[in-house]
This record gives sequence, C-alpha cells and structure tokens, in this order.
Amino acid sequence: MEGMREHGFALWFTGLPSSGKTTIARLIEHELRARGLKVEVLDGDEVRQQLSPQLGFSKEERDMHIRRIAYVAKLLVRNGIIAIVAAISPYRETRQYARDVIGRFVEVYVNCPVEVCIERDVKGLYKQALRGEIANFTGISDPYEEPLAPELVLYSHRETPAESARRVITRLIELGYLRA
Ligand SMILES: Nc1ncnc2c1ncn2[C@@H]1O[C@H](COP(=O)(O)OP(=O)(O)OP(=O)(O)O)[C@@H](O)[C@H]1O
Ligand SMILES: [Mg+2]
Repeated sequence: MEGMREHGFALWFTGLPSSGKTTIARLIEHELRARGLKVEVLDGDEVRQQLSPQLGFSKEERDMHIRRIAYVAKLLVRNGIIAIVAAISPYRETRQYARDVIGRFVEVYVNCPVEVCIERDVKGLYKQALRGEIANFTGISDPYEEPLAPELVLYSHRETPAESARRVITRLIELGYLRA
C-alpha cells in the first residue's frame, strides 16, 4: 500500500514578473522527474497561448486565466501528477480559489523587490510598462497582492536559483508531499 505521499499536489509559484517563477519551476521539474515522479509544468505564458490567446490583462481576464490553470491543475493532481504552476497570479482571492478547488496545494511566494525585477526585465516588458506602453502591467500599473500565509517564501534577490529550488524540496518533504 502506498501512502498519501504518493499522490499528486499543486506547487503554485506566484510573484512579480521576472521574480524567478519559471526558473525555479523548471529546476524543480527536473529534480522531481529525476526522482521518478510524474510532473507537468503549467507556465502562465504557455497556458495563455494555448488556452486563452484571446484573453487580456484586466482583472476579470486574469482571474479567468488563473481559474483555467486551476482547473487543469486539478485534473492532473487528482490523477496523481504533480502540477507545477508558474503564473504571476496577482490576486489573493483567485489564488485562494485555486487552493480550494485543488485541495493539495503548496503556495510558494517568489519574493523579489520590484527594483530588482525591473533590472532583470527578462522579457523587456518592464521597460515598456515604465514608458507607459503597457497598461495593466503587474508591479507597475497593476496591483500584486502578496500572499499572507504561503507555505514558503523564496527571496530570489539573495538566493541562487539552486538554493531556492533546494528550499522548495526541503519544504515539500516537511509538508509530507515528498519523501526525504
Ligand atoms: N533565486 C533565484 N530564483 C529564480 N530566478 C533567479 C534567482 N536569482 C536570480 N534569478 C534570475 O532571475 C530571472 C527570473 O526570470 P524568470 O523568467 O524565471 O521570472 P518569472 O517570474 O517567470 O517572470 P514572468 O512572470 O515574466 O514569467 C532569471 O534570469 C534568473 O536567472
Ligand atoms: Mg515565467
């Protein structure tokens, strides 16, 4: 008989653009696959292209986008798969919705000062947002609601990606989602 720890769960990364969600998610994906676990990454950008190419960035559209991700994650999780989500998911209430529908849910806040994110500007979008060319850009012209009680907070401006990934694995073991 296999115990609870064999079951799926959602590992949900939230944080500002360029905070490090995708980078850490991909490291964890590889680590968990190496352990022989079934994993899928639902990255905000990719899911948007596939499921919601017509959606914009108003609050309603962002919420719809996140609810779609939560739905797919729920299907994966209930089939024993680890669903890693990397999406800005800026609204507290919508993340709570995802937690409620998925059940086995680990929220990881990738905390990084907006100044550092602006400097990284992986996609060049902060630059455009700061020039006023993008309306509703999270952190600049749209709100980001910090998690109040996430399972884990990562500080990506003072940890390496590998250190952050290590801390995620350690926390998953503590929470009983992974074996040591
Ligand atoms: N501890 C860390 N964790 C993650 N990324 C880090 C860390 N330290 C530095 N970085 C760097 O920060 C950048 C984060 O970019 P990444 O694409 O992962 O962000 P993101 O949160 O997925 O952004 P977006 O919301 O725009 O998709 C990368 O260039 C990465 O190398
Ligand atoms: Mg990303």
